[in-house]
Amino acid sequence: MAENKYDVIVIGSGPGGYVAAIRCAQLGFKTAIIERYASLGGTCLNVGCIPSKAMLDSSHHFHDAHHKFKEQGIEVSGIRLNLPQMVKRKADVVNQTTGGVAFLMKKNKIDVFTGHGRFVDAKTIEVLADKGSGKASATLSTDKVIIATGSKPASIPNVVIDKKRIISSTEALEITKLPKTLLVIGAGVIGLEMGSVFARLGTKVQVIEYTDSSIGGMDGALGKEITKVMKKDLGVEFFFKHKVTGAVASAKGVTVTADNAKGEPVEFKGEYCLVATGRKPYTDNLGLDKAGVNMDERGRIAVDGDLQTNVPGIYAIGDVIKGAMLAHKASEEGVFVAEKMAGQHPHINYRAIPGVVYTWPEVAGVGYTEEELKAEGIPYKSGSFPFRASGRARASMDTDGFVKILAHKETDEMLGMHIIGPRAADMIMEGVAGLEYRGSAEDFAIFSHAHPTFSESIKEAAMDATGKRSIHM
Ligand code: FAD
Ligand code: NAI
Repeated sequence: MAENKYDVIVIGSGPGGYVAAIRCAQLGFKTAIIERYASLGGTCLNVGCIPSKAMLDSSHHFHDAHHKFKEQGIEVSGIRLNLPQMVKRKADVVNQTTGGVAFLMKKNKIDVFTGHGRFVDAKTIEVLADKGSGKASATLSTDKVIIATGSKPASIPNVVIDKKRIISSTEALEITKLPKTLLVIGAGVIGLEMGSVFARLGTKVQVIEYTDSSIGGMDGALGKEITKVMKKDLGVEFFFKHKVTGAVASAKGVTVTADNAKGEPVEFKGEYCLVATGRKPYTDNLGLDKAGVNMDERGRIAVDGDLQTNVPGIYAIGDVIKGAMLAHKASEEGVFVAEKMAGQHPHINYRAIPGVVYTWPEVAGVGYTEEELKAEGIPYKSGSFPFRASGRARASMDTDGFVKILAHKETDEMLGMHIIGPRAADMIMEGVAGLEYRGSAEDFAIFSHAHPTFSESIKEAAMDATGKRSIHM
């Protein structure tokens, strides 16, 4: 059994953990990282952000080839889906990306321990490499710990994810025989992204959602628009105000039961049922009690403003603590904690962390939503610009969607930017910069935007917000 002493040990190698480890090493800490899976990168790189985007990109090309090429004057025939190849390409992308993290660990002289990390006490962690025996393959001691153990799919009462017919996003990303029908529980981020992948490939997708809209946490106008476009372009059916009450799997399919808006029982049948009803923090067998670390009422690790737990020297970041479950949020927190440990004065502006849904058109938002401004009684004004009035969007046949800018009614400070449209994921960075620098809507109306670009629509929306002086509407 190896004995090792570190300045910092990071448990979990997702975008929170591996980024924290690199920043710790850069700051001169002797650092180790423990990961229970053979490949590094966590949910995001292995079964989340990266593979889902690979499948979204491939399915987007497939859909365009069927539905847009002809109008563009490209005659192709015999387009066929090779789903095993699509899934293989996705796996290659994942392997390259996780391999890149392994390289970065070596480059930064971070010791990697493969196995399940568990606290023995607040300064000692054992690594359980052999699941069967439960014996530690290494016992590590440390001054400080960063817990970055992430999250796992959560289900709802009477719906058990059997990983065969009733599946989470992890299994959905591995399907190599295209289902004719797919039921999706939840019109949140995973529901819309994975629903898009299958609908674009030809599956009949039905989304069953408890609330009255898609992507509930985002500005309401975005949810309305993406629902409309997914119905129109992909034929996705949405069943809002339907509370799922159960799911039963057979060898060939799944029956989902729900109560509709009137409280009447209804039934849905599909080859698979994708459960996309949120994720829960993962702290199984972590030995938090041995270290004396407290959880909050929702099963997350409780942290203070420095992201430190109630035990001095033990920090937690990413999906396992409060806040948005986003890769870049986890990474920002990783850097924050490393710099705090080094005595620096880092800062995270949570209001300026963008959220993106990689449907097509993409959906992106940052800052206050209109619903939040109303609820908080903040006086605001709003400007918007539709992509159908953008020359660039017409050129690429991407005319659905709009940019919406929210600014303070009196000061003109930009409070929120919400985009549904082509490349919204990249364009939202203008909004992030605006919020970080506390820019005004007027600033964005003045900035020169290259022509023709999708981002000109941001300038036009800003002009609209500052006095209805949009040029092209
Ligand atoms: P994770 O990435 O969950 O990493 C935690 C790691 O800790 C895991 O590797 C786990 O094995 C390991 N671990 C846990 N316990 C132990 C232990 N005791 N010992 C050792 N190792 C342990 N976010 C975005 O921002 N953009 C996206 O496009 C996006 N797409 C997504 C798509 C899908 C399908 C899913 C499921 C999620 C997506 N997310 C996306 C969310 C994103 O993946 C998470 O927010 C992010 O991975 C959280 O990072 P983390 O480091 O906190 O935890
Ligand atoms: P989510 O929280 O986005 O959506 C869950 C949806 O399920 C909600 O709309 C909710 O109302 C609905 N729901 C809950 N119970 C229900 C019931 N009984 N019947 C019907 N509907 C019900 O969660 P999701 O989509 O599972 O994603 C999990 C996390 O992963 C999110 O927090 C997200 O941040 C992250 N993620 C981020 C991505 C991105 O940044 N592009 C992509 C995928 C996931």
